[in-house]
Amino acid sequence: MPRTVTVPEVLAAKGRQPLVMITAYDAPTARWGEAAGAEMLLVGDSLAMVVLGHDNTLAVTMEEMLHHARAVMRASSKSLVVGDLPFGAYQTSVEATVEAGIRYLKEAGVHAVKLEGAWPERVEALVQAGIPVMGHLGLTPQSVNRLGGYRVQGKTVESGRALIAAARDLELAGCFSLVLEGVPAEVTAEITRAVGIPTIGIGAGPDCDGQVLVIHDLLGVTPPPYPRFVVPYAELGQAAERAIGSWAADVRARRVPTAEQSYHLKPDVARDWRRLFTEEA
Ligand code: KIV
Repeated sequence: MPRTVTVPEVLAAKGRQPLVMITAYDAPTARWGEAAGAEMLLVGDSLAMVVLGHDNTLAVTMEEMLHHARAVMRASSKSLVVGDLPFGAYQTSVEATVEAGIRYLKEAGVHAVKLEGAWPERVEALVQAGIPVMGHLGLTPQSVNRLGGYRVQGKTVESGRALIAAARDLELAGCFSLVLEGVPAEVTAEITRAVGIPTIGIGAGPDCDGQVLVIHDLLGVTPPPYPRFVVPYAELGQAAERAIGSWAADVRARRVPTAEQSYHLKPDVARDWRRLFTEEA
């Protein structure tokens, strides 16, 4: 079935109605994002932290990303699905990058890939292979060790200008959109003005062409504290703990399962069944 949202449509959304992108890692999160009308679902490498329990995004593998991307593809039919290239899948060479991009489209069926940082030659090679690419600048979590932590980027005039230059390079290389993460709002506004592709912000202020959040943060599944740009719209983590706690109490008190919640033999079979055991006794 053709997707409702296509890469040219995302490009055409520049400067119009803000685009909505939300991360998805499995069938339920894909269904929720799509039901909310998100134009794009991102199978983010944040999977490593919010689903797989790692301290950062570095450990997640291409196999794990593919496994989760397949689940997202099975459960979605309208949103454009973007697969994050994990750490190690594109840093070594252009060839490795194209190979990883092809695997994503062939083995999971995603529509586009995302990579972090200023790698215009990798982007060009992917685009030439027919693979749409979303860029990602600013706070790039795969470089957490080089950055010395999860710090806002582009806080000086020089580093802000460098971000604008990098954004232009990625646009020229063929990116169809660009995530800006952890960037001062004033710098984001200039980057958004400087490029003809939609910018999608996370912790980058209001002047983007769209916004993205990690779904586990938005739904309050990840425990606090949250960064300042995350205001949970639900408390699903607490609701889940309460629900499981109530069920556990009912199990311990033998309140569940009730007779109505159990399967039963038909009356004549039940009679024969009882007789069998009373006769044996
Ligand atoms: O992996 C991820 O979830 C991301 C978003 C934060 C943009 O890259």
